[in-house]
Amino acid sequence: MKLLVTGGAGFIGSNFIRHILNKYKTYKIINLDKLTYAGNLDNLLDVASNRRYKFVKGDICDAKLVDKLVPQVDAIINFAAETHVDRSIMESGSFIKTDVFGTHTLLEAAKKHKTARYIQISTDEVYGSIQKGSFTEKSTLSPNSPYSSSKAGGDLLARSYFVTHKVPVLITRASNNFGPFQYPEKVIPLFVTNALEDKQLPLYGDGKNVRDWLYVTDHCKGVDLVLHKGKDGEIYNIGGGNEITNLELTSLILEYTGKGKELIKRVADRPGHDRRYSLNCAKIKRELGYAPSTNFKQLLKSTVDWYAANLWWWKKLKDRDFGSYYKKQYKI
Ligand code: NAD
Ligand code: TYD
Repeated sequence: MKLLVTGGAGFIGSNFIRHILNKYKTYKIINLDKLTYAGNLDNLLDVASNRRYKFVKGDICDAKLVDKLVPQVDAIINFAAETHVDRSIMESGSFIKTDVFGTHTLLEAAKKHKTARYIQISTDEVYGSIQKGSFTEKSTLSPNSPYSSSKAGGDLLARSYFVTHKVPVLITRASNNFGPFQYPEKVIPLFVTNALEDKQLPLYGDGKNVRDWLYVTDHCKGVDLVLHKGKDGEIYNIGGGNEITNLELTSLILEYTGKGKELIKRVADRPGHDRRYSLNCAKIKRELGYAPSTNFKQLLKSTVDWYAANLWWWKKLKDRDFGSYYKKQYKI
């Protein structure tokens, strides 16, 4: 199989490329990535010289480029997106461009070239917040941030290309990922690296918001199952089964970095902050045999250890962005 992975220089895309190249010894991958602030070729140093891997710097909104690449592959897996809720609150135009228009550009090419599989990587955030129970794939979409709305736009557009144009679209909706190579703006790498530097951890609101944490390689395995065994036109939730409050998560990070609670800084809540995300993953478990890891604390500890051992990876990213983004966002 030859795959077009978009956004492969980001956190999940780079882990996915590594997973596929290691597992399927004949597969080839083209990685199309614009290299925004979140795209980082350091994430892929170990595969850069693999003869089955090719990197193309470019934008998924560039129809001419996409039209050249798509006929070369059997499947498209669209990870490319603007992904950070806080940035979408400050500026949302780039989210609409990439997450909606970029998705449209890829779908048009898949339609034209009759691509055998198109996987849209979506998120649990498209369902919005839920107080009790869990969202199934049939739940109503009710996104609350410009980020989740732009993802819902791409997600719905993808579905419509299946219904109207018979493009073999499959959609995955995953919960919050964690693991190596996550850009240090998302809560786990931000808090871990801040703690390692004895900087404060800006905890939003009362810290009681709940997220379901999914280890990144479990997400990759879920997408792999959908790619190989999923049914065209279907949606699959991919959760980790690890729901905890942000305060509980912060306490674990402080324990694993050996730092004290005085580092926690309560800051104003994020506007429109979703209280709880929760996915019902019975469908992918039953139909595709998905089974996420059950050792959350161990995986979180090993993630903390990875950031502690890989200062070379994150320090320059934070130094580059601290002056502008971090200062504006956190005033610390
Ligand atoms: P990320 O921000 O780490 O990486 C995004 C990548 O997309 C970067 O490499 C960036 O350069 C690239 N990109 C952005 N705009 C582009 C464009 N116009 N053309 C080509 N490349 C472009 O994101 P991530 O956390 O790896 O998320 C990947 C996907 O998974 C996204 O679609 C996201 O919505 C989804 N997702 C993420 C999570 C999570 O917890 N991180 C959970 C569920 C779903
Ligand atoms: P984040 O990693 O941005 O993911 P998402 O908003 O997509 O779920 O945030 C995870 C949770 O952590 C969310 O409830 C917001 C909270 N959070 C903080 O309390 N402080 C922070 O500095 C950040 C970035 C997030």
